[in-house]
Amino acid sequence: MDDDSLAEAGYLDVPVDAGSTAGRRWWDAHADEYLDEHGSFLGPADFCWCPEGLREADARLLGDLTGARVLEVGAGAAQCARWLVGEGVDVVATDVSAGMLEAGARYDAAVGRPTPLVQADARALPFADASFDVAFTAFGALPFVPDAGRVHASVARVLRPGGRWVFAVTHPVRWAFPDDPGEAGLTATRSYFDRTPYAEIGESGAVLYAEYHRTLGDHVAELVAAGFVLDRLVEPEWPAGHDRTWGGWGPVRGARIPGTAIFVTHLGRPPA
Ligand SMILES: C[S@@+](CC[C@H](N)C(=O)[O-])C[C@H]1O[C@@H](n2cnc3c(N)ncnc32)[C@H](O)[C@@H]1O
Repeated sequence: MDDDSLAEAGYLDVPVDAGSTAGRRWWDAHADEYLDEHGSFLGPADFCWCPEGLREADARLLGDLTGARVLEVGAGAAQCARWLVGEGVDVVATDVSAGMLEAGARYDAAVGRPTPLVQADARALPFADASFDVAFTAFGALPFVPDAGRVHASVARVLRPGGRWVFAVTHPVRWAFPDDPGEAGLTATRSYFDRTPYAEIGESGAVLYAEYHRTLGDHVAELVAAGFVLDRLVEPEWPAGHDRTWGGWGPVRGARIPGTAIFVTHLGRPPA
């Protein structure tokens, strides 16, 4: 694709500040629409890591949580934390969007048990140093901020030494392909190395939505800079018989290329 076609497809350089604040406004405005579309797949109290349907109940990427204090960042409506509450885990769910947390409170009412919910930007977590054993997110916060290193640093600060940080993001290789679940999504049309974000711009020129690409190497560099050690990189395969599409995810592409990357890390040395 040439530069004009890429811009037309939404790959645009946006000012860092504008991209940074668009996230909260977009999720507030679209919380209900998002959950109308994906809520039945996610369930009100289920810990699903990704559109491939990998569940924490099977994968156990967070390890043994007996006695652990757990933090979810970019929790959305806190479906994952709510499942952990049901498992007897001491967990608090955070998200920058009041709209998503309000939806979470409605799920709490429907399920009949409370989930601790705190409104917070993942880049400035309002918790004491070294106050959690485990932190995680399933597609929360990281894709929507231009400065993911700040999320890692903020999580590192609130984790105890050795604490685990597990996060799922769109697999970086997907950024080379159109976001189409069908055959059109199988031909690479842009460079994997092009970090230009995907953005939606309003008529007034305001940035309404921004999503940021990081290569695998970028993710690892940001983790290491924050003091984390990478233990595993999980690339869930598309399961046989799973026919449901989610945006650009679905069985056609799932058979050929990964859609999700889950980084399993722990806090090593203190960040420099
Ligand atoms: C795709 S949802 C992920 C949540 C949930 N796991 C799900 O699948 O619905 C992305 C979430 O990240 C949140 N988010 C975006 N930017 C954030 C930030 N800077 N700090 C915390 N949360 C943020 C959004 O409000 C949204 O709830």
